[in-house]
Amino acid sequence: MQVLGLDVGGSGIKGAIIDVTTGALMTPRNRVPTPEGAEPSAVATTIAHIVHHFNWKGPVGCGFPAVIKAGVAHTAANIAPSWVGLDAARLFGEVIGHPVLVLNDADAAGIAEMRLGAGHGRNGLVLLITIGTGLGTCLFMDGHLVPNVELGHIEIRGKDAELRASEAVRDAKNLSWSEWAKRFDEYLHRVSALLWPDLIILGGGASRSYEKFAHHLTVGVEIVPAQLRNEAGMIGAALAAAEAYPELLAGELPGS
Ligand code: BGC
Repeated sequence: MQVLGLDVGGSGIKGAIIDVTTGALMTPRNRVPTPEGAEPSAVATTIAHIVHHFNWKGPVGCGFPAVIKAGVAHTAANIAPSWVGLDAARLFGEVIGHPVLVLNDADAAGIAEMRLGAGHGRNGLVLLITIGTGLGTCLFMDGHLVPNVELGHIEIRGKDAELRASEAVRDAKNLSWSEWAKRFDEYLHRVSALLWPDLIILGGGASRSYEKFAHHLTVGVEIVPAQLRNEAGMIGAALAAAEAYPELLAGELPGS
């Protein structure tokens, strides 16, 4: 069974056809820069282009960088404010002409890592942090997702945490890995003191460079890099869509 997995990020929108049994990418990923300002209509048009690129007529799962409840976006930290209150699932479904399951991007990455990656078989409280344009967070208790956890926005030194310790901030301020890691380590200490996780998985763009900063982290919790790296969002979105549309299992396309 295959599903088109999409991941809307602050700098790029990525898509690939995913085998939802194995999580394998069945196509090379297609990445298009996120339109300036990430306005709803421009993002929807970009998504339609990616769907068209794959000539895809089946179901779609999409990770999106906001709190998402029943398809509706409720926050807009790194995207246009006009997303708040907008039914993203309906908007994307209309431009594509197929059903779309939309979920928070960090939740999507977490689903993939827990099923097929670094969190596989792990019980207890697992916290996954995606380090990219923002800080995405997602929480699993004994394998069950607690959706829309927004710990990237806790306040540290009077600032939103992701404005101090994201990958985008490291780039913008030209911080060395050790300078940035100090900030990120402080963040991990704060989050850990609030949640007491059993395992922390680090994903997102910065997970590619895990070896460059891991030795600077001092928090007393087991930390591992994400295994599916930056592809986890697309894979998890596809897995979530396959679960949301059980008729797929019977070989039918929803809405067809
Ligand atoms: C958003 C989250 C998102 C994260 C990563 C944050 O700014 O509030 O919803 O998961 O960025 O994209």
